[in-house]
Amino acid sequence: VKVTYVSHDGDKTTVDAEEGASVMHTAIANDVEGIVGECGGAMMCATCHCYVDDAWTAAVGVRHDEEGEMLEGASAEVTERSRLSCQIKLTPELDGLVVHLPEDQI
Ligand code: FES
Repeated sequence: VKVTYVSHDGDKTTVDAEEGASVMHTAIANDVEGIVGECGGAMMCATCHCYVDDAWTAAVGVRHDEEGEMLEGASAEVTERSRLSCQIKLTPELDGLVVHLPEDQI
């Protein structure tokens, strides 16, 4: 499953992810800058904030309520495309996913 991370300045990094891994874990495992993931995926921080690319919002689906609440603490602007990347699991349907990263996570 491939995922592309687009940094705040437009740099693109495409990595191979393990099926079932989260977008957050995949970023950490591949040293992608721009995702911190302080709580390790427990939905207790908001340092894994990402913006799902417009082309992928339908496939990724909407965030859950708790995720929205946690995002209120995110340092960057929260939009309709904002998700906690630890809550997006990479399935074959998401092969080719593109996410955009905010300027700051903390
Ligand atoms: Fe903490 Fe996603 S890693 S909420």
